[in-house]
Amino acid sequence: MIQKSDKVFEIHTKKLSYIIGLRSESCLEQLYFGRRIGVKSASALQEKYASEYGNTILGIEKEHITFDNICVELSSQTLGDYRESSLEMKMPDGSYAYHFLYKDYEIYDGIYKESSSTRMPHAKQNDIEGCQTLEILFREEKYNIELRLVYTAFEDSDVITLRRVLKNDSNEMITLDKFMSMQLDLPEANYEMVTFDGAWTRERHMHRRKLAPGRVVNDSNTGTSSNHHNPLIYLVREGASKDSGECIGLNLIYSGNHYEAVEVSPYQKIRMMTGVNPHRFVYQLAGGDVFYSPEAVLSFSPDGMNSLAQNFHHFVQNHIIAKHWNKNERPVLVNNWEATYFDFQEKKLLKLAKDAKELGIELFVLDDGWFGKRENDHCSLGDWKVNEKKLGGTLDEFANKIETIGLKMGIWMEPEMISPDSDLYRSHPEYAIEVPDRHVFLGRNQLVLDLTQECVQDFMIQSVGNILDCGKISYLKWDMNRQITDGYSRLLEENGEFYHRYVLGLYRVLDTLTKKFPDVLIEGCSAGGNRFDLGMLCYMPQIWTSDDTDAKERICIQEGTSYGYPLCTMGAHVSAIPNHQTLRNIDIETRFHVACFGLLGYELDLSKLNKSECKVLKEQIAFYKKYRKVFQYGTFSTHKMANDNEIWQVVSRDQCTAIAMVYQKESTPNLSNDILRVEGLLDEEGYHVRTRKQALSIKTFGNLVNQVSPIEIAEGGVMQAIVDKVYRMDSEVEEYDVTGDMLAYAGIKLSQRFIGTGYNEKTRVMPDNTSRMYVVEKKK
Ligand code: GLA
Repeated sequence: MIQKSDKVFEIHTKKLSYIIGLRSESCLEQLYFGRRIGVKSASALQEKYASEYGNTILGIEKEHITFDNICVELSSQTLGDYRESSLEMKMPDGSYAYHFLYKDYEIYDGIYKESSSTRMPHAKQNDIEGCQTLEILFREEKYNIELRLVYTAFEDSDVITLRRVLKNDSNEMITLDKFMSMQLDLPEANYEMVTFDGAWTRERHMHRRKLAPGRVVNDSNTGTSSNHHNPLIYLVREGASKDSGECIGLNLIYSGNHYEAVEVSPYQKIRMMTGVNPHRFVYQLAGGDVFYSPEAVLSFSPDGMNSLAQNFHHFVQNHIIAKHWNKNERPVLVNNWEATYFDFQEKKLLKLAKDAKELGIELFVLDDGWFGKRENDHCSLGDWKVNEKKLGGTLDEFANKIETIGLKMGIWMEPEMISPDSDLYRSHPEYAIEVPDRHVFLGRNQLVLDLTQECVQDFMIQSVGNILDCGKISYLKWDMNRQITDGYSRLLEENGEFYHRYVLGLYRVLDTLTKKFPDVLIEGCSAGGNRFDLGMLCYMPQIWTSDDTDAKERICIQEGTSYGYPLCTMGAHVSAIPNHQTLRNIDIETRFHVACFGLLGYELDLSKLNKSECKVLKEQIAFYKKYRKVFQYGTFSTHKMANDNEIWQVVSRDQCTAIAMVYQKESTPNLSNDILRVEGLLDEEGYHVRTRKQALSIKTFGNLVNQVSPIEIAEGGVMQAIVDKVYRMDSEVEEYDVTGDMLAYAGIKLSQRFIGTGYNEKTRVMPDNTSRMYVVEKKK
């Protein structure tokens, strides 16, 4: 709900309030942001001064107010505000001085009415009630420039989106040096900042730091939202935890260079902002031109980080992902990348598909290497013609064979790239991003296409369209494997516009293709999770979370990712051991358990599995399919036990089913016993809890097996391998009847872990990096 009374604008959702008031013509004061409140009088919320500070500039003289120490929605150095500015522009007179004055406002139902003119992805209403927009209009009178602050309340998700729109109504050029989507000032500084950072194969690990006077910047300048720093940030009250405390979350619907800054001012106020990165950004706005910022996404929860994450999950699922996909159960897939890399031909692929079908897999994804002369990563990007020798025929014919086996057909492409060794480069070198007369540095032996050029965008639409026109393709993995270095286009007058225009070009391509092929499920990918953001999710409902499929590493990656993005967006695969990224050996059940908290896939050579492993996989896939809706669309949260073991849990929307995983990173002797708590069920209802029976390899016990075995089984020996091929031991299974509140508050004291003094069918055998899964079902 949005309303205006006197000079105060109130934006409320179910649980949060955002209150701003006009203090003067040039001062829109940020009065309150936090837990939902009723507002009686604005004066209680206003900043008050009886006299001015020493050397400050007075913005509102009669009230002794300096703009340097008042929470505002917009201000500038010209007004005496020396904190980080969210808007910097060069005026026609060559100065950086602007002075916007309040003119008008508008409140209406639905999302921002010019959303489709922005040429950028945006949050959608999707027929859900309770979505309203407020526009506040300011004008810079000297030059006739209009600035709109736009707020949209998504009541159902407890989210407000914010953006700014600048219209140059003068006849002269203005130059934007920095144009943030929003700024939020807070009156107190006792927060900690949480960011989600990393690198290739180590994406979105959570980092938390105490704020101190000064500025912390979280940004990317690689041309994509990047694996260095995700645009998602949290500010949490000191001491706030996963389950309690006030938390603020901010994200950006944008896939290029982003910038988030959090500043603690000399007067212990906070200013935070997000938007397009001002680094290498200079944008010229001629008379009559409009500049739209991307849309920022703001949420709040008084109940800890899990609850804030759940607001984002709800928002992404209901307002970011296309309606067509947002409740759609996603297929279990097999991907041939780690099974074959580039070394495949038709026979090998069809064998993989047949094996996959046997196990219950639904979709076959043909990864890199099917086109041009691509036998390695040195050539052919841009030459999107099927290598018929490798596939044994046309794409159509190959896809038919996959369909005959009983699987759907998916394919990998990397449309934004061009190999110097490609027919495309030989015929159109001007399509590549290169600075004339300068050495170009390659990344994975390739260059990036100059998407600021319309003809390149058209080429891309055509080349992807040709593949999808085959008609049999139901899934596309859209990859982007290198960073952009010299952002330069020969056609641009101002190359400071390059990075933003690249993203706009990409969005035009994606918009056209998704409208033409709405039924093709697209999974985003960028060397794993290098472009995991809300912008991409508007076009593609899922993203390959990371090239790293090691379950232990995935615990950090998937948990970090989950603070901004729901499980239905995260690709998660079971792969071979030793893991191809970390060389770590984690048992097949734990690899599966971690991948269950996401969109399950398998990425390994299935023909190498032995009989007992095939049986295990079959059971895994049947189990996932049975509970797929809960895993993909349930309410997810992560917790820690007192002994530091992890609990991940997901609860069905109707609160009838929950699934919890206990993950133990290290086996520490005689650690306190595990207590399994699962929250979010109906307090007084009865539930049955049961361990998912899992298969244990005798290899787990090494030589200890000989304590019970009638024949000698040497560790690493032939006999051990033979037994392992055909036989897996069953894990312990615990069963309990509980009530929802028992399970949430008292918890279940789980059976003892293996401690070296004995073993029976009740022992929980849990070496390093192992897990258990528990299924909770409401009693009829
Ligand atoms: C990237 C992706 C991988 C795989 C390869 C193929 O690294 O992240 O999943 O598709 O490209 O070259």
